[in-house]
Amino acid sequence: MPAPMAQGSNRPRLLQNRPDKNKQGGERRGFFSGPFFYLFVLGAPVVLACLALKFLSGGEVRGSDTEVLMPPIPAPVNDSGLTWGTLRAQHYFGLRTRHPHSPLFGMMWFDQPQGGHPNVRHWCNQNELNSYGWTHADGRTFGRQTLNDTTVLLQTDWVNTDESTFSARVVSKPHKKSKDTPRVNFYFYLALESPSHGRLRLPKSKEIAIEGKTEELGEFKLKIESSQRDESIVTDLLLPRVNLAKINDHVLQKMRVSQTPHGIAYVLAQGEQKFEEGTFAVMAINAPADSQFEITFTRSSSSDSPPTGVAFEKELQLRVERFEQRFETAFNLAEKNYSPSESAMARVALSNMLGSIGVWHGSNKVKKSGSIVPYGPHMLLSAVPSRPFFPRGFLWDEGFHQLLISRFDPVLSLECVTAWLNTMNVNGWIPREMILSAEAEEKVPSEYIPQDPTVANPPSFFYLLDTVTRDSMFVNQHRATFSAIYFKAAKWYKWLMTSQAGRYSDSLRWRGRNGTTIRELNPKTLASGLDDFPRASHPNDKEYHLDLRCWMAVASRVLARLAETFSTADEAESYRRKYTELSNFDNLVQRHWTEEGKQFADFGLHSLNVRLAEKKKIIQGHHGNTVETWMERVVDEPPKERHMSDAMGYVGLFPLIAGIVPPTEHAKLKAIIGHLNDPEELWTPFGIRSLSTLSPYYRAHNTKDDPAYWRGSIWMPINYLLLRSLGEYAVEPGLEGQLREEIVATHRRLKKALVANLAKEFTRTGYLWEHYDDKTGEGKGSHPMTGWTSLVLMVMSEDDL
Ligand SMILES: *[C@@H]1O[C@H](CO)[C@@H](O)[C@H](O)[C@H]1NC(C)=O
Ligand SMILES: *[C@@H]1O[C@H](CO)[C@@H](O)[C@H](O)[C@H]1NC(C)=O
Ligand SMILES: *[C@@H]1O[C@H](CO)[C@@H](O)[C@H](O)[C@H]1NC(C)=O
Repeated sequence: MPAPMAQGSNRPRLLQNRPDKNKQGGERRGFFSGPFFYLFVLGAPVVLACLALKFLSGGEVRGSDTEVLMPPIPAPVNDSGLTWGTLRAQHYFGLRTRHPHSPLFGMMWFDQPQGGHPNVRHWCNQNELNSYGWTHADGRTFGRQTLNDTTVLLQTDWVNTDESTFSARVVSKPHKKSKDTPRVNFYFYLALESPSHGRLRLPKSKEIAIEGKTEELGEFKLKIESSQRDESIVTDLLLPRVNLAKINDHVLQKMRVSQTPHGIAYVLAQGEQKFEEGTFAVMAINAPADSQFEITFTRSSSSDSPPTGVAFEKELQLRVERFEQRFETAFNLAEKNYSPSESAMARVALSNMLGSIGVWHGSNKVKKSGSIVPYGPHMLLSAVPSRPFFPRGFLWDEGFHQLLISRFDPVLSLECVTAWLNTMNVNGWIPREMILSAEAEEKVPSEYIPQDPTVANPPSFFYLLDTVTRDSMFVNQHRATFSAIYFKAAKWYKWLMTSQAGRYSDSLRWRGRNGTTIRELNPKTLASGLDDFPRASHPNDKEYHLDLRCWMAVASRVLARLAETFSTADEAESYRRKYTELSNFDNLVQRHWTEEGKQFADFGLHSLNVRLAEKKKIIQGHHGNTVETWMERVVDEPPKERHMSDAMGYVGLFPLIAGIVPPTEHAKLKAIIGHLNDPEELWTPFGIRSLSTLSPYYRAHNTKDDPAYWRGSIWMPINYLLLRSLGEYAVEPGLEGQLREEIVATHRRLKKALVANLAKEFTRTGYLWEHYDDKTGEGKGSHPMTGWTSLVLMVMSEDDL
């Protein structure tokens, strides 16, 4: 799952339990304007090279770990940053450019309420629409999206031009054709982050339009043509300043109920205060539900105007066709006989991931000796796990996202990867979660915003680097970028190896577990990404974690190969030695194998018998007594140092996933495949579940309000890695006979199960989901989750064994 926030219960449930309006809004804080920001902007290669050398040679670094970014990798492409795109991931329909001072375009809409509060649709919210998502989008030049709301079906399509303009079309159709078509309010707005970067104004003419100017774009105009102009009531609003995280509130405050020729309607009223210029302008159109809008963003200095009418339709079709061709080249689905619903799911999986790539500018909040300091500023370009729920960057998710994106658009992927690596600090730490603006903070309860520079997250990026660097032509085209990436990846590796070091040189330990809590059944390991997957019951610094060792084995192997190209033979040799050490089978068995349970496992201070029990306290108050209840952990058997033999699941599969169980080790390999295929343990008809049903932690709550998460559910990224590895074992020369056949059969069954269940759920609900129920196959958690669940497309594109 998307790596959760800092300490405490993990985000998904926390936010699900917490309606938007109860959340605290973050105030925008000033950036830390370090010198590297300017370096980044200027991208001066010579200065960078000097700085890189300085860092390499261990030159003096001023400032502390939370304040100093590494020298940035120069952007791999010639991008002015002024091209429009759907870079506002959390909006149903929002456009901006990558530039920090870009105008922001957005759309809001709501049914004309029959009394009561208008339910404004603006930011994606998982409990509002029947379904929605990009059906075709390339993440760069166009998108087609369907939004199935309760009374209307909306289609939002857009294309951009190289001249920093765009056009869009919004088609609204009521679900039911009846004599009195319902009326819907459509709001189209532009916003600027601050008045110092430009201004907006409302034209004096009768046009439905917003005009404005910024330094980068010059004079521009957003114009809206409505197919039902005569049947519409048009009002507008201009505000000098808004909090971008509170646009809904600003707009709601200015709504008035008005008697109109079309009945009672909500309109916008400027009120007493009138402004010539502002940073937020919105055109409100109360229109029949059966309406169509054509939106154009033009610039005075641009010679081209964006296509409208028939030309728009033609251009859109052209881009859809281009998308289809690239899609087929990248994923080869045509010959694989997938059903129409499976094919539709495959396109949505990719399009919604590309269509929700976002851009953010700002600083993280980071923990530093008891206080919270800004760390940045960063420019992040990243895919997101989920538009309504996790509309921001997550480190280990992103490694998976980019596996998919790099297949379709390797340069776009490279841009995201460099943006991520550019957030690294001098020690090699990368924040796990990127919460970089007031808008981003709005979605996160404040106590979970600060990032901890001692806490890691799985380096899934090494799988990506391993994959993309196999294309030597691509590497040669972007050699300088890849060299810089190698340098940072090596730095990150070193940080992981030292900051997460374990009690032996060959063991590693996730930091950030709570060793004193008695409120959790099993203290979580948020750093691992697997959150509540059970680990040693009594966290201490003697424990060591199997999955982390395997991640680092993979990282060592990948760096050993990359060092051959980007560094010295000596360095390659040192990574190879580390790989040999971490993958040494006798040692792996000694550290992590338990005969009891015949499985690989974590080691630590662990009790095989713990439970949660309810506690009560009577609180005396002025108006009588109240009873407070909570759960506390009871340890029925004292813990001792041992292997975790009672939690077979994803962690225990990591040696197989990392490919470090030699194919000749038949007995142990067979044991793991046995766990995998046993329906009482990990096999389900929908995919591999995260935890064996035989574990006492299976489906167990971690606290009263914290239901099982990685304790049974089926998660796509691990299933994907597993399939990938099974496919590799199947062709290993050292593997023969019945075990090979079993592995091949497992691969086939698993692939089929995953695709079939995801497609079934997609057809049933219109969504890909965060994880899937291991008993029913039903989608669970946040949705749409077109982050790593979209890896189903990679699975579909693999040839059958
Ligand atoms: C992109 O390339 C063009 C032509 O080579 C150049 O004029 C322009 O300044 C470049 N833009 C950026 C942002 O590098
Ligand atoms: C919109 O959602 C409704 C309710 O889920 C469904 O019956 C209908 O088929 C959907 N329409 C489209 C075009 O997807
Ligand atoms: C561990 O959890 C307890 C409560 O369960 C909390 O008071 C404490 O601050 C936590 N420790 C850390 C380091 O987060």
